[in-house]
Amino acid sequence: MSRLIVISNRVSPPAEDGEASVGGLAMALSAALREYSGIWFGWSGRTVPEFTGQLSIERGAGVTVATVDLEEQDRDEYYNGYANRTLWPLFHYRIDLSAYERSFDQGYARVNARFADTVLPLVDPADFVWVHDYHLIPLGQELRRRGLKNRMGFFLHIHWPPRRLFATLPNHRELVQSLFDYDLVGFQTEDSLTAFQEYVVQSEGGVLHPDGTAEAFGRRIQLGSFPIGLDAEPFTAAANGESAAGWRERMRQSLAGRQMIMGVDRLDYSKGLEERFLAYEDYLRTTPEAQERVFLLQVATPSRGDVPAYQEIRARLDAVSGRINGAFATADWVPIRYVNRSYRRDELAGMYRAACIGLVTPLRDGMNLVAKEYVAAQDPTDPGVLVLSQFAGAAEQMGEALIVNPFSREEMSDAIRRGLSMSKAERVRRWESLMHGVQTQDVTAWRDAFVQALMHPPAVEAAEA
Ligand code: UDP
Ligand code: G6P
Repeated sequence: MSRLIVISNRVSPPAEDGEASVGGLAMALSAALREYSGIWFGWSGRTVPEFTGQLSIERGAGVTVATVDLEEQDRDEYYNGYANRTLWPLFHYRIDLSAYERSFDQGYARVNARFADTVLPLVDPADFVWVHDYHLIPLGQELRRRGLKNRMGFFLHIHWPPRRLFATLPNHRELVQSLFDYDLVGFQTEDSLTAFQEYVVQSEGGVLHPDGTAEAFGRRIQLGSFPIGLDAEPFTAAANGESAAGWRERMRQSLAGRQMIMGVDRLDYSKGLEERFLAYEDYLRTTPEAQERVFLLQVATPSRGDVPAYQEIRARLDAVSGRINGAFATADWVPIRYVNRSYRRDELAGMYRAACIGLVTPLRDGMNLVAKEYVAAQDPTDPGVLVLSQFAGAAEQMGEALIVNPFSREEMSDAIRRGLSMSKAERVRRWESLMHGVQTQDVTAWRDAFVQALMHPPAVEAAEA
């Protein structure tokens, strides 16, 4: 029987209470694999003095989770280095933050090779291999070099940048070439797919075929856009459950009749948090009657704290939120509740429902699941308003949100004003349309679309193979 072998850097076996750790990839994959049999392989998150390739195996109800420890040098050069100091900033349009160091390249290549060596014995000939995200782009190539013939797919959870931006990466050609060792490469949005296709055609002289395949580097592979979704039903059930109700009540009491605006993000410079705070400050300044009657709850969960750019953004956000609170607060009101910790999603669901506005304004984001969670958690008879950045992948599907340019303080401030005073009829109308999308384009639909495409290649490709 064919199984699915899923490989990602971060692996999150569901904990005792069934909750995975923070981040869209782990959330989506643990939901997507719930009723699958197969293996989910990745880094344990731990380091050891010397790499051994020893697997830790945890057998769950369906999927078996297998992890491996890495060396400290691996963590520094591969995870903190190439993945999070080179690729992440570049793919989020921050070439000013991208660091190019040979040791990072070497660490990236070394860990991808180590992953290949470790996972290879787990793969049977009939299995399908599905690799995830920017940490592991060359893994498919490493597996092919070791003789693996299985069908292999790759899905990128973050945005693919435009050609000229991508070309600033030393060895950009080799990275794209390695993607051509997969049979299927999937992106979050049409926008990312198009950017990748443009690179293939214009930088590499490749050819796009009407069946969705692309030919370059002597290989023909399938490309597609597969927008990731929420595990909508369980999430909505959690939003209607006891724990969420407890949090909703707790929030209602602490609101004291005020309107709440809410943001939930990893503490990452791509999330546009400073711009969001400044837009909210603009709103308070230009709407004096709103002062003391509204507040912003911003959950910003610390992330990648070893990387200098993350330490810097954290310090800036401390300063900006502190300044705004100092300038506007009164004896019994603070304008921003800024919280550096994580909450479980059932807790978040209760808070989302108590918020009149979900403020999701990344400067660049592959998809953004928080936007979908905010919608799924609302009370159908009295829903809140989603304010969404045009640069979140989710904006391609969520046109009924108030779409804003996160680089414009005034546009965001106007959207807050509009959202807080929107009629119930308009809120319900927009929410119904958004909720329909969240329910139908959920994580199961995403998984099934990708797995189907991986298992059933287009006819021409099959004939050639
Ligand atoms: N999240 C969470 N607890 C927190 C903060 C975030 O469980 O305290 C979850 C959030 O509910 C969402 C995910 O982390 O499911 C973030 O995914 P998203 O796609 O929005 O952004 P990413 O972090 O992957 O860039
Ligand atoms: C984004 C990336 C994921 C990553 C997550 C959390 O969603 O696309 O690959 O797992 O952020 O980041 P972390 O570095 O903690 O895994």
